[in-house]
Amino acid sequence: MKNVLILGSGGREHVLAWKLNQSPSVNHIYVAPGNAGSANVASNIDLAILDFEAIGAFCLENNISILIPGSEDPLVEGIVDYFNENDSLRHVFVFGPSKEAAELEGSKEFAKKFLIENDIPTAQYESFTAKTIDAAKKYLRTKEAPYVLKADGLAAGKGVVICETLEEADLTLDEMLLNEKFGTASSKVVIEDFLQGVEFSIFAMTDGESYLVLPEAKDYKRIGEGDTGLNTGGMGAVSPVPFVDAEYLAKVENEIIKPTFEGFKKRNMNYVGFVFFGLINDNGNPKVIEYNVRMGDPETEVVFPRIKNDFAELLDLAKDKRLCDAKINIDQRTCTTVFTVSGGYPEAYQKGKKIEFSKLLDTDTLVFQAGTKLSDGDISTSGGRVIAVSALANTLTEALTKSYDGVNTISFEDMYFRKDIGQDLLNY
Ligand code: AMP
Ligand code: GLY
Repeated sequence: MKNVLILGSGGREHVLAWKLNQSPSVNHIYVAPGNAGSANVASNIDLAILDFEAIGAFCLENNISILIPGSEDPLVEGIVDYFNENDSLRHVFVFGPSKEAAELEGSKEFAKKFLIENDIPTAQYESFTAKTIDAAKKYLRTKEAPYVLKADGLAAGKGVVICETLEEADLTLDEMLLNEKFGTASSKVVIEDFLQGVEFSIFAMTDGESYLVLPEAKDYKRIGEGDTGLNTGGMGAVSPVPFVDAEYLAKVENEIIKPTFEGFKKRNMNYVGFVFFGLINDNGNPKVIEYNVRMGDPETEVVFPRIKNDFAELLDLAKDKRLCDAKINIDQRTCTTVFTVSGGYPEAYQKGKKIEFSKLLDTDTLVFQAGTKLSDGDISTSGGRVIAVSALANTLTEALTKSYDGVNTISFEDMYFRKDIGQDLLNY
């Protein structure tokens, strides 16, 4: 029997705890800091996800054998290296990549170099700094609109600006490189060709030797219906993605997934953990938009309910570098999730709104909490994205109906959700 610690407080972490709670070999699950939902399936612990020293001490005191960082920050800050370099912590299996490998998400330039070096399809690019801003403006003039400008470093999902005109692109370059629009994250900027197409993502688990491909998903990033308005952390998701059939999946595996893992080996990156391939379907050709070094949120809310395997068993195999012995067992049904968010999000919004739940009857509907907090026995809002309602059904239409029926059992003041999740996929 083993104890597991998950780092984070979102819907993704609630899902991972929910999934591990179904594993007979898991004794105790802790989530730091967690939310009101994770408290139902695990023990929430008051630890900051970047306080490696406190996390290490907690692992020793509570006999933790597996640590799963949910988000990228602790990985990019080197939590894996911290555990590996510490004699008393080395025995803890941290399911995530090293600081160096996490640069795949931590630096757009690093990721682009890796992609090009391994002949993996992606948009052409060049990168620039304040010193080379004149060259950047010259480069822009060799390209056509729209222009894609990306802050090199982590910018909480906000570091990409798509400019419709040269004037706007010049101005954005000035803001990013000279005025620190995204702080130090934009002291280097990647300019890349604009790709047109439907975006989707696919995920894998790897132990550094072999990998296991997980179901794909499509998320809905914009706040407004019809994919309009500001970008958010994600307003909903669907898995599977109808146009990703077996043939297309084989193409993704041959052209993107395999060369990525071969690239890790060539560079001796010793990548362990989840790999998130952010892809775009460019006229039938999958291309990489980005890598993330963790699972997606809200993608986890539709991917994990479809995985029938015992997650703790997969982690054990990964720990022993025997993932090659695992076979993924996927529920063929469709899973959809719809996020309820605080009114005003992703801009300013209020917290502390009491959440009312009415009884949910369907057993294939799953409520995953994100920005929620328990206080005095009440559950109240504590973040922008509040609760995701996932549902499994034989068709996309049925799954969506169940997700929305589930959303209707939840209410809080100024609650908002998109009513068009999955609608674009109904015609495939
Ligand atoms: P990223 O942080 O790299 O995932 O980019 C955020 C979003 O910007 C993506 O999900 C896309 O919608 C958009 N984007 C990024 N790169 C491109 C590109 N080369 N062409 C078109 N859209 C892009
Ligand atoms: N849903 C996108 C992400 O997790 O980055």
